[in-house]
Amino acid sequence: MAIFGVWSRFGFRENPYSEATLTPDETGHRLLVGRDSEVENIQIRLGSGGTHPSVEGPIGAGKTSLLNVAAYRMARHCLDLREKELYLPAKERFQPHADADAFELKVMQVVAQTLVEWQDSFEAVGLARPNMHPLDQWLNEPEYGGWQAGGGAATVSASYGRTTEPNTSEGFQKSGFGDAVRAALEEAFPPGTGGIICIMDNLEILETTGSARKTLDELRDRVFNIPQLRWVLCGSRGIVSRARSERLSGIFQAPMIVRKLPDDDAVAAIRTRIEFYGDDDAVAPVTPKAFDFLYRALNSNMREALSHAQEFSHWLASEYPQGQSFPDDSARDELLQIWLAERATDAFRDATSVQPRHWQFFTEVCEAGGRIGSAEFDRFGFGFQQQMTAAVTALVAANLMVREIDPDDGNRTVNSVASLGWLVFFYKSGFDMPPARS
Ligand SMILES: Nc1ncnc2c1ncn2[C@@H]1O[C@H](COP(=O)(O)OP(=O)(O)OP(=O)(O)O)[C@@H](O)[C@H]1O
Ligand SMILES: [Mg+2]
Repeated sequence: MAIFGVWSRFGFRENPYSEATLTPDETGHRLLVGRDSEVENIQIRLGSGGTHPSVEGPIGAGKTSLLNVAAYRMARHCLDLREKELYLPAKERFQPHADADAFELKVMQVVAQTLVEWQDSFEAVGLARPNMHPLDQWLNEPEYGGWQAGGGAATVSASYGRTTEPNTSEGFQKSGFGDAVRAALEEAFPPGTGGIICIMDNLEILETTGSARKTLDELRDRVFNIPQLRWVLCGSRGIVSRARSERLSGIFQAPMIVRKLPDDDAVAAIRTRIEFYGDDDAVAPVTPKAFDFLYRALNSNMREALSHAQEFSHWLASEYPQGQSFPDDSARDELLQIWLAERATDAFRDATSVQPRHWQFFTEVCEAGGRIGSAEFDRFGFGFQQQMTAAVTALVAANLMVREIDPDDGNRTVNSVASLGWLVFFYKSGFDMPPARS
């Protein structure tokens, strides 16, 4: 990254505006800002056993980062306390999948990898170190060795055989790998000593693959009931409540709502990253102050604000090629405002198919929070649904809105303002909306 990338020119060892989800490790722990009560809340729910928690919130608000870091901090805390209790973040996250067998296989592989990776920490907290050698070997083989199902934890290594089953879900079923992982889990976590935290992420996928929803039900008695695994369901607005219906409602709790990151925390997050990745004389292309402006202009969408910050950084680097020094902080802040205004003006100019009546509707939608159902036409002064549909179509064509399936009713759509839409709205309303901070 340092040789070709733009960040070293600004004095950073890595991209300080990465839109990537924070990971369950030391870096994620250092970079997560705020969210103290949410982290505590989710940790209590995970550590209390029983029904599994779930989390819901706007796209890009920081749901997955919050869960990853909450899980990692649980592991850290257990290691600090050394009280024979250990919670570990699963090495990977999971997504709903139409094939229950493949999903179960994935869970078992990830659980085994997690145990292998963290095996030293069991002794560190005063628990017995599980024997992971056979599982470790198995994971790195192209074919499954034949486990003797029902062998139990004590005989795990003894029963590791060499009959060959391909490393596929079918091979997995036949080989008894799942039983071996379950046995390893039982050995690793005697009752009441913790477990592995597994995140089932991006439940919105369920909208497009109906069969994945059925799979979720099937998984109830296959992976959601393993005592040493704590699950969290995570998805954008409305989707978790819907996925939780029927068979799953008894095992997953009603969602905890994660709201957008408050402005102050978003700004603090950037300050933290600049300090974390930058050297002493690093020049942050987007200063914390400018990020505050950007974040508000994009209706507090953290991921969008970060990705715009990256684009601006590239623009700035190309405007001031190697050898030229960058303008000072306040001049850069001003440049960002001009750059952003130009993007909004261009988008506004490109939206030629959007008629004045559509603009009026667009402004009202933004003022109402940016998300409306397809049946709400009379609320916006339309006599017929088709008139509102035409307005939405024009706005979608101009990339100012997006149309999605309503999570509460698959026959309807929900229309929401896109990030470019928020930018245009921000400029059209002369910086008044979203409300400026004092
Ligand atoms: N509390 C926070 N502190 C620092 N950075 C954060 C925080 N919350 C979110 N971010 C940053 O915002 C971006 C989006 O976060 P994340 O991917 O967790 O959101 P999400 O809600 O899971 O998104 P999606 O709905 O797309 O799954 C990431 O770059 C992440 O680093
Ligand atoms: Mg996410």
